[in-house]
Amino acid sequence: MKIIILGAGGHAKVVLHTLQCAGMEVAALTDNDRSRSGRSVGGVPVLFEDDALRAHPAGTVLLANGVGLRDSTEPRRKVYERFKALGYSFAKVTAPDAHLAPDAIVAEGAEILTRAVLHPCASVGENAVVNTGAIVEHDCVVGAHAFIGPGAILCGGVKVGAGSFICSGAVVVPELTVGDGCLVAAGAVVTRDLPAGARAAGVPARPK
Ligand SMILES: CC(C)(COP(=O)(O)OP(=O)(O)OC[C@H]1O[C@@H](n2cnc3c(N)ncnc32)[C@H](O)[C@@H]1OP(=O)(O)O)[C@@H](O)C(=O)NCCC(=O)NCCS
Repeated sequence: MKIIILGAGGHAKVVLHTLQCAGMEVAALTDNDRSRSGRSVGGVPVLFEDDALRAHPAGTVLLANGVGLRDSTEPRRKVYERFKALGYSFAKVTAPDAHLAPDAIVAEGAEILTRAVLHPCASVGENAVVNTGAIVEHDCVVGAHAFIGPGAILCGGVKVGAGSFICSGAVVVPELTVGDGCLVAAGAVVTRDLPAGARAAGVPARPK
């Protein structure tokens, strides 16, 4: 089935490239500003969102979430939930050069990008992202809508709650729990559990 990518910015470009590397056919990207539609990205047309979805009703295409983020996963969650409520299904996006253990679990809409690693018994929830080169070690649980930034490392047995953002290059040491909706800044090393909604930065990570 063809895929439509929601969004046409930086993350959407990466999702497009990943799908193309995996040999999947992307019909269009979308923009919810009509004035920015009509161009193309990577040879694929950018359509006004309403037009794209009128032409491709639920059941005729799969969607992929191309919405990126600066400091919150909320925009990605909202887009995913809006289109699920309209009856659409989301593709699992897995780069051909990502390494997935045979028993790693990847839920609907999750995106596992180039050179990411999911080791045995790791699981990644709906609409979550494991970005370029990130490592999700054995027995980790990444919650729905969470975003594991490029090069971040979740050591064995770590749990990351729904909607949390582990920024680029951060490390969470083994067996810790990062609650729902947390933000761990780039380069931080998390050495204690974080409660829901915590923002932490630095080495060792402290509230920010
Ligand atoms: C965590 C982050 C989102 C914070 O953004 P923010 O709240 O807008 O932070 P600001 O830039 O306003 O900085 C606020 C303070 O935090 C500090 N800070 C910001 N990022 C930091 C980091 N990664 N580590 C330590 N301190 C940091 C700033 O120096 C500043 O300190 P000051 O008040 O003493 O001057 C951002 O800094 C970050 O780490 N971004 C990486 C995002 C990423 O990995 N994206 C990948 C997507 S593919």
